[in-house]
Amino acid sequence: MRVIIESSAEQGSQRAASIVAQLVRKKPRAILGLATGGTPLKLYQELIRMHQSEGLDFSRVTSFNLDEYVGLPPTHPQSYRHFMTENLFRHVNIDIRNTHVPDGRALDYETYGSQYEAMINEAGGIDLQILGIGRDGHIAFNEPGSSLGSRTRLKTLAPETIRDNARFFGSEEGVPRLAITMGVGTILESKKCILLAFGKEKAEAIAATVEGPVTAQVTGSALQFHQDVVVILDEESASQL
Ligand code: GLP
Repeated sequence: MRVIIESSAEQGSQRAASIVAQLVRKKPRAILGLATGGTPLKLYQELIRMHQSEGLDFSRVTSFNLDEYVGLPPTHPQSYRHFMTENLFRHVNIDIRNTHVPDGRALDYETYGSQYEAMINEAGGIDLQILGIGRDGHIAFNEPGSSLGSRTRLKTLAPETIRDNARFFGSEEGVPRLAITMGVGTILESKKCILLAFGKEKAEAIAATVEGPVTAQVTGSALQFHQDVVVILDEESASQL
């Protein structure tokens, strides 16, 4: 793992954006793995700025998102599809047909999970996966206890994740209980990963992920097995390293 500590979330997000931009310039048909949540927002804003002012071209890029809440239609304001449309896709020239977010309305999740993985493989695999991290150290929706070899599947959200996400749904009761998520094993197959974490509430999860034992209780720690991970932090999230 290569750990980069920047002075602020802005600086860290710019650093991440420059890695994404470098890839897209070198490989216009890059396959990006994208994440939702508050953490990557500044990265997406920087990519939009680079598109608008430097002509960064997304026209041949394909994307796969990590996860989606079960039961939410793509039009739901809290669905991850809606998040991606509003915070990135509609501001850049990506072909929306080449963007993939797991379908929270699939009927048969076992089949759907395999299909999502097959789509990733047919596209050539993910070149660069963007990741955030939960306070309990989870990546995507691979909650504590997820198998480190897991594939795209249905997952029950942990109580801590439900509490953390209640702010988006008005109440804990409003948060979906299930999500479809790429597995830890799926994520580890990406050619490169960028893990972003900002703020002191992520410090413990980052210490466990970067320096702790590899454990299914902190699924981010599985990234220690990956050969090309860049961890981009601010001083607060790095404070327990
Ligand atoms: C959810 C998402 C994760 C994200 C995490 C942290 O659990 N499934 O992909 O990393 O929240 O979110 P935030 O960046 O808002 O702290």
